[in-house]
This record gives sequence, C-alpha cells and structure tokens, in this order.
Amino acid sequence: MLTLLHCSDLHFGPPFVPRVGEALLEAAAALEPDIIVASGDFTQRARPEQFAEARAFLDRLPRVPLVVTPGNHDVPLYRLRERIFSPYALYRKYISPDLDAVLRRDDCVIVELNSTAPHRTITNGRIGRSQLRFAERAFADAPPGVPRIVVAHHHFAPAPDYEGGQVMPKAKRAMDCFTRLNVDLVLGGHLHRGYIGNSLDVYPGRERDHGVIIVQCGTTTSRRGRAREREKNSFNLIRIGDEVIRITHYMYFDELDGFAPVGRHIFPRGGRGWLTGRVGAADDADLLGAHGRPERG
Ligand SMILES: [Fe+2]
Repeated sequence: MLTLLHCSDLHFGPPFVPRVGEALLEAAAALEPDIIVASGDFTQRARPEQFAEARAFLDRLPRVPLVVTPGNHDVPLYRLRERIFSPYALYRKYISPDLDAVLRRDDCVIVELNSTAPHRTITNGRIGRSQLRFAERAFADAPPGVPRIVVAHHHFAPAPDYEGGQVMPKAKRAMDCFTRLNVDLVLGGHLHRGYIGNSLDVYPGRERDHGVIIVQCGTTTSRRGRAREREKNSFNLIRIGDEVIRITHYMYFDELDGFAPVGRHIFPRGGRGWLTGRVGAADDADLLGAHGRPERG
C-alpha cells in the first residue's frame, strides 16, 4: 500500500492561516504518508519572504519525499522584469531547482510538470508538447503495474460546479496523452476546491475502457477557498493498493481545530474497469468512526 498526502495552494503571505497550517502538520504526522505532494501556489505574490516562510513550513512536514510543482502565484505577476527574465529564480532557490521532474521509485513513478506559463498566460497555464514527451520518456521504463502519477498545478478538467476557471489550452491533448500512457492519477490544484472524478466524465473520446483519475485539491492552508470550499481548507489522502485506489477528501473544521474526512472515492486498478468483491464492506467500515480525527493504517 502506497500512501500519498496531497496538499495544494498553501499561499504563504496574507491569505495563509497559521492555525490551519499547524493542523496540516498534525494530520501529516498522524497519517504517516510515504510521499507528500504539494501541487503549487506556495506563495501569494512570489515574494522572497513568502517563499522563505513556505520553505520553513515544508521543512516541518514528515521527512518523506516531497513532490512539488510551481503554481501561477509562484512567479512574479507585477514585477515584470523578473517575470520576463527570471520567473522561477525564487521558486528554484526556496522550493525546488527542478521544474519538470520525475520521482522514480519501486512502488510508483511520479512526473511533475510545470504548468505555469509566465510569458504566455497569467492564470490558465499550459503544458507543451515537449513536456508530454518528457512524461512519455519518464513512464517508458516504469515497471509493469507500478502506479503512474502526474502532478501539475493547473486543472485539465473543469470543476463540476460551473463556477469559472477555464481549463488550460490543449487540456484534452494532454489528457489523451496521459490516457495513452496509462497514467493512473493526475493531481492538481489552482481552483481552490477539491473534486475527484474520472477523465471519461469530461473527455469520453474513443478510449472508454479506462480513463485517468482526476484528483483536485482545495487550498489547504489559505483563506482563498472557492465555491463549496469558500473559506474552507482541504487536502486529499490517496492510498494505492494492488487492486484499488482510495482517495479520501479531508476538510478543516473550526470546531475540531483540525482536519477530518468528508468523503471517499474508490477506483479499480490494474487496467480493470471494475472493483473486486474484496472491497466494499471493509472500505465502508473504516470511513465510519473516523469523524474528528485522521484515519490511520
Ligand atoms: Fe492558488
């Protein structure tokens, strides 16, 4: 069983909420993930002090591999000279030197794609052909059966609540590519509310035997939540077994001063379009009783 904690849009700067940040650290320690994913927007305005605060916070997370990708708020918006000539200088200094990267392990391959496009678009993002080729090469020698995951800040599918948020140009091209590459999951943020679904719901296309599971995370620690997560905070816990992928959506509650699960999605793995009989009762049961504290095990 591989466990990923997926947070996003931390937004260090004025919107960051310290008590929610502490709750995330507490949940991350309790849930004992194998890998932590932070899908962009570490800062509000890409200022050095905001990046420094974000780095200090990341250093307090459990000492497991951290998968990161820049968000549109991690490149200068108004400092035009920086935006043109060195848009990623501070991101590289404080968060990660790499923009497109691969985490290759025996139990998963995770491709981080930089979807920001500071020279071309402000908020919608973009994934270019060369990045799709990068993903193709990264997955080419993945051991059979190993989970394949893509992380990018911007969303490839629209939110189901119809509230704004254009998908990036050429999103379908990217999703078709990921489907062809047998990617299991695409993890993202940007929209500041979580939703979980299947690419077939949005891009039915010719391939209907399997899609890509779309996992969107809300803003985990800022006041910038939108739609059903307005003024709310969330993260996802993803558990990948041989047969199923379970994604639990956690939200922060003031009365608990912590995160608690609010929903779970279960998908089949291994190229099957069905769930085995072995899941069901146990999965339903372990969601019960979890109210008020993060699940374990
Ligand atoms: Fe954001």
